[in-house]
Amino acid sequence: MNKKIAVLTSGGDAPGMNAAIRAVVRTGIYYGYEMYGIYDGYKGLVENNFIKLDGHMMSNIISKGGTILGSARLKEFNELDVQQKAVEQLKKNDIYGLVVIGGDGTYRGARDLSKLGVKIIGLPGTIDNDVSSTELTIGFSTALETIVDAIDKLKDTAESHQRCSIVETMGRHCGDLALNASICCGAEIVITEETGFDKKKVLELLKEKKQSGRRHAIVVISENITNVHEFAKEVEDYTGYETRATVLGYVQRGGSPTPEDRVLASRMGEYAIELFNENKYGCVVAIKENQLISVDLISATNKHHEKSKYYDLIEKIR
Ligand code: F6P
Repeated sequence: MNKKIAVLTSGGDAPGMNAAIRAVVRTGIYYGYEMYGIYDGYKGLVENNFIKLDGHMMSNIISKGGTILGSARLKEFNELDVQQKAVEQLKKNDIYGLVVIGGDGTYRGARDLSKLGVKIIGLPGTIDNDVSSTELTIGFSTALETIVDAIDKLKDTAESHQRCSIVETMGRHCGDLALNASICCGAEIVITEETGFDKKKVLELLKEKKQSGRRHAIVVISENITNVHEFAKEVEDYTGYETRATVLGYVQRGGSPTPEDRVLASRMGEYAIELFNENKYGCVVAIKENQLISVDLISATNKHHEKSKYYDLIEKIR
């Protein structure tokens, strides 16, 4: 009888998750595995929400945003009895191996299942790029493109009206989206957890720009730093720039994946099955200097994402 491999997506959805599902499923079928999908992440796993997948079901999903399997965040998944229920469902469905696609929270769930004996491999799928084991996550490129497109448009109107535009990006506690978008758009100021938020300094800098005759200014700020609408008011009062704040929000999570995300997801999905073929599991797939590698789940969940090297770069070219 063929071995069965199941795949699920968990946590915040990210463009390219479908491309990863497709690569896992099609590569699995290529090697003779029977492939299953689990709906709605770990929630569907605990609730036994499985579906048999075939190659045809993967047609035309590579270009679609979101995830055809659905996603969820299940807080209770850090409880042992819930994890044990998940293990039971995998046994009941005779699943040999499980591929999970998601971010940090998904990886912690994978680590716990691995400790309970599940043969599991993780793929990094999140727009935040905050996964410590890999240089790049599936979805980051597309979200960045969406943000850059939005800021380019905001710049047009900020320039016409001589305004300061404050743009809040997602990223949870990681500034990579804000930083890379700032490089792409030539933002005057970027504020992330990594830069810290020295409000007085930012206000002074913007005031100087206004006084030197600069018509507009773009400030990109990561979420979870400050209330951007209140901050906009302070900027306006202090600097003389008429100021507007824009929270980009969930638009950053959607959309057709960029070619970069499609290729990354396809490579990583294929690699996961190759790892199963070599009897390697209890690990995650990562990319370093454009090479795919596997990293064990314990070290993948122990470290924090490194601060981007691009902070030096932006200092010089701004
Ligand atoms: O992890 C992806 C992400 O979009 C973060 O950038 C954001 O902080 C969070 O998810 C929002 O989560 P939720 O969809 O649960 O509101």
